Amino acid sequence: MNSAITILPSLLAADFGELRAGARQAEAAGGDALHIDVMDGVFAPNISMGPEVVRMAKDAVGIPINVHLMISNPEEHVAAFIDAGADTVLIHVEIDGDVAAVLDAIRDKGAIPGITLNPGTDAGAVLPFLPAVDEVLCMTVNPGYGGQSFMPEVLPKIREIRLAAPDLRIMVDGGITTDTVKDCAAQGANVFVAGAALYNAPDMAAEIQLMRANAAAQCALQ
Ligand code: DX5
Ligand code: ZN
Repeated sequence: MNSAITILPSLLAADFGELRAGARQAEAAGGDALHIDVMDGVFAPNISMGPEVVRMAKDAVGIPINVHLMISNPEEHVAAFIDAGADTVLIHVEIDGDVAAVLDAIRDKGAIPGITLNPGTDAGAVLPFLPAVDEVLCMTVNPGYGGQSFMPEVLPKIREIRLAAPDLRIMVDGGITTDTVKDCAAQGANVFVAGAALYNAPDMAAEIQLMRANAAAQCALQ
């Protein structure tokens, strides 16, 4: 199993007046990559950031840029995000378009493809795409906003996906804290996206260390 634990601060929770400083803070605090949430107001009920924010972040930090596309037409935008510096691009399985073709396009353009599923989507929906991706993102809130409460009903699905994909990175996103990280790690997640819990912490570095330690303690029990 791919058991390396990584913690990804989510820039959505940074001060939008100081996004460069927010990106740098994530790197300085020990974040393994920077997670950037892209929402189009159609697939998700909010509108957030675009390729220029990715370009800024790529220039600001040396850690990988992990781009989460909560948009309904990723086929029209993946190239722009990769050109802007995205190292990983995650698309949603719920889109109407050709998911396999978009995943292939991401890899062909030199980035790492990932597939994402919403809390209400069954694990079975992503199974056909597992050979085409390096990571699977299990949303633990509904897309749209930072600071929402973790949905524990997603936990069995994390286990299901881990059993189906022993070598992939299994990622969780939404309501991840030093507490909820434990439950997710116990089910096999090893990549943790956290916004509010990290940017609102008095000491982001200490919070990342605790999150990592709590996740590692669960993995050690496996
Ligand atoms: C939600 C986003 C998340 C968000 C998580 O639509 O995909 O990445 O930033 O934020 P927290 O950790 O605050 O729930
Ligand atoms: Zn996200």
